[in-house]
Amino acid sequence: MEQIKKGVTIVSSGSATATQVLDNHDLSKIVDTSDDWIKTRTGIIKRHICANNSLSDLASQAAQKAISNAGLTPTDIDLIILATSTPDDLFGSASQIQGSIGATKAVAFDLTAACSGFVFALITASQFIRNGVYENIVVIGADCLSRWVDWSDRTTCVLFGDGAGAVVCQASEIGDNLLGFEMCSNGKLNSALNLAYKGEVKNIGHNKQITQGGFGKITMNGREVYRFAVSKVPEVIEKALFRADLTTDKIDWLILHQANQRIIEAVAERLSIPSWKIIANLSEYGNTSAASIPLALDEAVSQGKIRHGNTIAISGFGAGLTWGAAIFKWGSFE
Ligand code: ACO
Repeated sequence: MEQIKKGVTIVSSGSATATQVLDNHDLSKIVDTSDDWIKTRTGIIKRHICANNSLSDLASQAAQKAISNAGLTPTDIDLIILATSTPDDLFGSASQIQGSIGATKAVAFDLTAACSGFVFALITASQFIRNGVYENIVVIGADCLSRWVDWSDRTTCVLFGDGAGAVVCQASEIGDNLLGFEMCSNGKLNSALNLAYKGEVKNIGHNKQITQGGFGKITMNGREVYRFAVSKVPEVIEKALFRADLTTDKIDWLILHQANQRIIEAVAERLSIPSWKIIANLSEYGNTSAASIPLALDEAVSQGKIRHGNTIAISGFGAGLTWGAAIFKWGSFE
């Protein structure tokens, strides 16, 4: 059977954050740090931390808002992709979201690529649309890294927050608004950033052994990840722009993974993108991993900054190590 080729449009967004706020002053009472150090080195002032919300709660809220902002109902959705590294269930949390929002027609699965997760999921979703398989897809980026942070390690615990963001992608007969993308991995640098399984060998009888346990805490070589991000992110954005047949001056908005204000500014400078085109909200939320790009996107759409037809460059980077970029025009053709 011949597949119909269709174009991708990214038509709406939604987001959700936990209500509990932890600011730099609160953190300075927990570990040996200061508001000044955190602000100067990272740009973060506060973060929202889950206590009573599950990952699926936040992700479901973000998805519902994106669906409603698209003028759709959950039963219109064909596919839900949840980018997360912190599912409520190791078997995956996307199906819980599908159930809770009542997207009865949708198939749902998780995708793990740490802070690059949303970019990778958006690109994955687009393939299903371009092949003519699905019409309406919800892409969610959601993480509750607070669950896995070592709250006695000042080098990591000041960085992360929890949140969720989502977009609806729709098929179009008229054109394709995903203009270009690029994805990369380098497993040789895997040890720079980990949240690894920690099992103990146990005997189960008859001279047979298994390992059982949980996960450790987040460990990161901050300087190495910083160097990697500042050199690789401009490169991957340039590759995505090349595929889009565009130059950097055609970008209306730059939304990078919200890890560090200094990384964001250094990348923009290398690409000669003026600071007024940068969308950043990490001062309020910290690094929310897979959620950070859709959370910043949704805020900018709600504030009326991002308008229909604007060209947006997004780039995620993080554990794996993984990194990627996508260039798209905001909104539908209609
Ligand atoms: N408060 C006070 N002092 C601190 C703190 C803190 N919270 N953390 C570290 N320090 C100290 C260090 O001990 C060090 O002291 P020393 O000079 O006496 O040894 C000093 O501050 C400088 O430490 P650096 O690690 O060199 O600080 P740097 O300027 O590199 O900033 C940071 C650290 C913010 C982690 C930065 O390296 C960074 O942002 N890295 C990238 C992180 C990132 O992008 N992650 C993205 C992926 S996340 C994901 O995928 C899940």
